[in-house]
Amino acid sequence: MANVVVVGAQWGDEGKGKIVDWLSERADVIARFQGGHNAGHTLVIDGTVYKLHALPSGVVRGGKLSVIGNGVVLDPWHLVAEIEKIREQGVEITPETLMIAENTPLILPIHGELDRAREEAASKGTKIGTTGRGIGPAYEDKVGRRSVRVADLADAATLEARVDRALQHHDPLRKGLGIAAVDRDALVAQLREIAPKILQYAAPVWKVLNDKRKAGKRILFEGAQGALLDIDFGTYPFVTSSNVIAGQAATGVGVGPGAIDYVLGIVKAYTTRVGEGPFPSELLNADGTPDADGQRLGERGHEFGTTTGRQRRCGWFDAALVRQTCATSGVKGIALTKLDVLDGFETLKICTGYELDGTVLDYLPTAADQQARCKPIYEEVPGWSESTEGARSWAELPANAIKYVRRVEELIDCPVAMLSTSPEREDSILVTDPFAD
Ligand code: GDP
Ligand code: IMO
Ligand code: MG
Repeated sequence: MANVVVVGAQWGDEGKGKIVDWLSERADVIARFQGGHNAGHTLVIDGTVYKLHALPSGVVRGGKLSVIGNGVVLDPWHLVAEIEKIREQGVEITPETLMIAENTPLILPIHGELDRAREEAASKGTKIGTTGRGIGPAYEDKVGRRSVRVADLADAATLEARVDRALQHHDPLRKGLGIAAVDRDALVAQLREIAPKILQYAAPVWKVLNDKRKAGKRILFEGAQGALLDIDFGTYPFVTSSNVIAGQAATGVGVGPGAIDYVLGIVKAYTTRVGEGPFPSELLNADGTPDADGQRLGERGHEFGTTTGRQRRCGWFDAALVRQTCATSGVKGIALTKLDVLDGFETLKICTGYELDGTVLDYLPTAADQQARCKPIYEEVPGWSESTEGARSWAELPANAIKYVRRVEELIDCPVAMLSTSPEREDSILVTDPFAD
């Protein structure tokens, strides 16, 4: 039985939510394995819009098990509010349909405060442009061995000891940043109040998933963010604080690497990025504002962040970057999304590599100063004037759109397994079924 990992292959917002929702019909379990509510995944089903941040995109379909794995950092107050909101939209969420790994570290209010205080204090050029949701500080505490984890909520003494351990680190840090010391008792009380609302979903996820595998059930691993935001392989330090690439799927829920049969990379037909950091194919005027093509991509693609509402930076498709991220995630096939946004461009450009100090590179170098100096090398391809919006078969695509897709496949050295032509669930073209491959 195939298990499929879905990962973003650019800087996030590639349309992972839509594809995971579509594929979830073929899966039994949908599991998030990293990130937190910095993610924003939008699903559109028969005109109804669902915005998910911490919940796996499988919850909406019903009848499936959704899992929040230990690789995630979880804000319990946010989760309870998100569950409430999604329930109001008519989605059923119960301890039978949602499980949270007991070893999941929590995001506490102090993490968000620290995240935002650091960003505010950062000088020009050092700001990361985080979502301000405490993701980085929560992961720091995880590797610093001072997290409060889901299981700790069940025992009052353990909970207090965990909070004290965390505050031993945080209070001096806050003092240095001019933030008041934490009201320890109030934090403990807040945690005790939220505890039963979270504990009802807590489970040994590693065990549940290993049992499901033995029973022949199919797991769909849902990545958040994108490979270029990966803590190791992204454009460091302008990255998120987790491993985003496909290898994390196993660690992030507690199954072996052999459980991954197929990695589907989600790739937008152009490129976007929210937040700071290098972006070689960004479409800018000399004064740093979006140029006409960049504006057009942003407007047609509605490129505003689901989580923060920030305008996304837009650029041409960067094949060199996607070739690289397909390699680091072992992508077997891609889902190419938002092809419809390119409708009506007379000419399209594709970045095939970079020029750096007179040499041509076919990958983005690691050193930050070199990344910043990389000049994109473009090839031009003809656009198409017909609409691809809502297309559900190859036959509906104009010849030049097919040529564009074929050229993308050649340049990234990876086949297209799916195409997406609108936000709607069913406006998709399946070429290769990842679960059957
Ligand atoms: P994610 O973070 O990767 O799940 O992506 P987001 O949901 O943040 O952003 C993708 C946006 O594009 C969402 O608003 C989707 O509804 C929308 N979308 C997804 N696929 C398509 C597509 O093929 N065409 C168009 N026009 N919009 C799409
Ligand atoms: P989805 O799952 C796009 C970006 C932030 C910032 C950097 C670090 O919707 O694709 P963080 O709050 O994680 O410490 O911010 O990462 N970022 C995302 N960009 N899509 C996302 O998620 C993102 N999650 C984080 O904008 O540049
Ligand atoms: Mg998103």
